[in-house]
This record gives sequence, structure tokens and C-alpha cells, in this order.
Amino acid sequence: MKKVITYGTYDLLHFGHINLLKRAKELGDYLIVGVTADDFDKARGKINVQQSLMERIEAVKATGLADEIIVEEYEGQKIDDIQRYDIDIFTVGSDWEGKFDYLKEFCKVVYLERTEGISSTQIREKQSFLKLGFVGDRTMLEKYANEIEFVNGIQISGAYLNEFKEQENMGGIVNYSSYEELLKYCDAVLIESAPQYHADQIEMALNNMKHVICESPIALNGTEVENLYTIAKKNGLILMEAIKTAYSIAYNRLLLLIKSGKIGQVVSVDATCTSRKELDQSQNDYTKVPWNSICGWGPTALLPIFQIYGVKPKNIQITSMFLDEEKKFDAFTKINFVFPNGTATVKVGKGVKSEGDLVITGTKGYIYVPAPWWKLDYFEIRYEKIEDKKRFFYQLDGEGIRYELVSFVQMIKETKTNEYILEKYSIAIADIMERFLQNRQIIILEE
Ligand code: CTP
Repeated sequence: MKKVITYGTYDLLHFGHINLLKRAKELGDYLIVGVTADDFDKARGKINVQQSLMERIEAVKATGLADEIIVEEYEGQKIDDIQRYDIDIFTVGSDWEGKFDYLKEFCKVVYLERTEGISSTQIREKQSFLKLGFVGDRTMLEKYANEIEFVNGIQISGAYLNEFKEQENMGGIVNYSSYEELLKYCDAVLIESAPQYHADQIEMALNNMKHVICESPIALNGTEVENLYTIAKKNGLILMEAIKTAYSIAYNRLLLLIKSGKIGQVVSVDATCTSRKELDQSQNDYTKVPWNSICGWGPTALLPIFQIYGVKPKNIQITSMFLDEEKKFDAFTKINFVFPNGTATVKVGKGVKSEGDLVITGTKGYIYVPAPWWKLDYFEIRYEKIEDKKRFFYQLDGEGIRYELVSFVQMIKETKTNEYILEKYSIAIADIMERFLQNRQIIILEE
């Protein structure tokens, strides 16, 4: 009996797939189809897949062409499968021409002509196109414009830039003269403006029936955040807080491992984020620098703490060092938390430099995420015995921005709430911003 094997994602099964499966089947007597697992696809940069593994398997099954369906979960599995199932022929479409020649050592390799004019990517793009308006500065616009190339079903339609109000050529992106104008020509807005503008801009967008993705913090106090979520829900819109780390695969795995008790009970979470750029002291006016340390880094550092312990600390102590007399630009802020069953510290700074790592201490062991931990793709679980150490690596492309955008598009399509950053975490983060800005219980370090 001649055994044939082929692999694919088979998202939104189309006639290109069926054509391929038919011809693969004709190459032998028994066809095994390997369907890629969600994580394996993400790890190889295929982040837009819409259907779950089960849905994709069901679709392949329904073609009646596969004699057996297996799941492809890891790099290098093809060689294992070929040996295990005693395969005679490995086949894929001609878009992979040459890429699997290394398998010739184990079986015959056949590249079948790809069907022209159809692909899952094309179907996903056609389904709907979300027009995204951008608010912020030019550097961030360029960053997002590059990343959005990797995300199906969304494009930047226009911008309203803080500092460049005049019309100018921005690679096909229209620069509108006002925020109101921008809102007229988009389905959703991406807000990257200074934090003090967020709440008003979000409210206006939601009232104009636009979905919103906004850089964190989405407002500067918890009540305002609650109010914004209420409007979003009432209007059936998505309001998504953008903290890049929260949408990465590694970060979500890390939280699951903690929940499953891998390090025992958590007793301390210590998160440090600093970026020391030369600040422009010439004007001695730091109020003109929109992102101080607490707004710029605070949300990222606070998120794991609230996600691990919940949002009801028993005690919060904030200590800051300021660069301006009005005490708005904190060069450094340290927050000490006491929760009912654990403790946490946050260290954030734009006028200091420290090791930007994340350490989560538990009763059995600890998790160590090396600097810069917020670009999370690798972490270790360490125990007393050094040989028990476990390492975890997950792909992270584009600093996490593209995963954030993929989640946004999916939430809109499926009218799902944000399961990565729950509303209560957004409120808790904004509450800390409020405490800071109102100078409540802040200990100020002398120069
Ligand atoms: N295939 C094909 N003709 C097409 C599309 C896919 O022959 N028009 C083949 C691929 O070469 C592969 C198999 O079908 O052997 C599964 O491909 P998959 O990557 O799942 O499908 P695509 O439509 O190429 O998906 P995407 O656009 O997400 O890359």
C-alpha cells in the first residue's frame, strides 16, 4: 500500500485545498492529512488563522478525501511522522517548491501545482475591511502602518497627527485637519495620543459609533474608564486597551502556568520597566513631555500584578522622584503593594536605568523573565535544584503590535469582550494613575 502525507492549515477551506487533496490522494492508496495546531501556526508567523483547529479538522474530514487526519504541532514533526507512518510520498503545493527537499532522504517528495487565484489569506481579506483611523504622532503611525501589513482585514485609512496638522504625503494615508473629520471616514480608531486626551477622544469615537483601540492608560481615573466601557457596551462597540505584552503568546502561557500551580502560591511579583532617554531639560518644562514614567510604563508593569492577585490591594505606597517643580514628570516611581495573600513591586523610570526583568516568586519556585521582559518571548521556571529549571520560548514578532491588532479585528468580528485585559484591570490601572496624579499618598524623594 502506497502511503501519502500532506500538511496545511486549511483555514476557511476552499477549492484550492480540495484540488490539492484530490491529487494528493491520487498519488497513492492511503492519504494522511496533517492539520497545523493553532500554536504551531502562530509560532511560524501565521497569526491570522480564523478557524479553530477542531473546525479546520472537521472541514478536512468533510471532504471525504483524507483516510487519516493528524495534528502538526512542532517543528521537525514531518520527519517523525514520515518514519512513524511509514510514508512513501510527501506532497504539498508548488508555493513550497524546494522547501521540503530535505525530506527526500526519507521518502519521495512531490510538489503539486498550486491552484491559481485563491487562498485563505484572500478570503480573509475579502470578508470585510476595517478602516482604521489613527490619532497620535508620526513615529507611532509609521510603526503601526508597518505592522498592519501582517494583519488581515484591516487598513489605516487616515490619520490625525498631533504635531503635523498640515496636509502632507504619508504613503497614501490621508492626514485630516481635525479629529471630527477623521472619525467621519473610518470604522475604528487607534488612539496613540498623549494620555490626557484619551478619555475625550474615546468618548467621541464611541458616540460616533466607532470601535476603539487605545494605548494604555485609556483614562486617568477608574470612574472614567467605567463610563467609557458602559458607552461601548451600550453602543455594541469594542473598546480595547493596548498593552502590547498582554497579547503575546508567551505572556498568556506564563499566566496559565502560574494558575496551574507550577510555582506554588505566588508571594511576590516584581516588575521593572525603564527606558532612559536623554530628556530635553533646556526648557525645564517636563509637562510638555506627554508620557511620564507612570503613564508610559506603569500599565505594562501593573498588569501582571492585577492579573495574578486581583484588583483589591490592602495597601499601596507610591514613591517618586520628579524632574519638574509641578511634580508631573516622574523620572522614577516605585510602587509597593500588599495584597491579602502576597506582595508586589513596580519600578518604572524614564530618568533612571535598571534591570528590566520580571520575577514572580512562589512557594515552590519562581518565574524569571529576562530584560526587556515586556517584549516577552522567553521565560524560565526555576526551582531549588538548578537541574529542574524549565525554559519556555514562543515566537514574538513586531514587538507584539501585530498580535494586538489581530485580537482587535477578531473581537470586532465576533463581538467578543477583551479577554486579555478585562475591564476590571483597566479600571485598576487607571485608579493607580489617579492616585499618582492627585498626589495621594505619594512619598517624594528629595534630589
Ligand atoms: N494550496 C493549493 N492551492 C491554493 C491554496 C493552497 O494547492 N490556491 C495548497 C498549499 O500549497 C498546501 C495546502 O493547499 O499544500 C494547504 O495550504 P494552506 O497554507 O492551508 O492554504 P492557503 O490558502 O495557502 O493559506 P494562506 O493564505 O493562509 O497561506
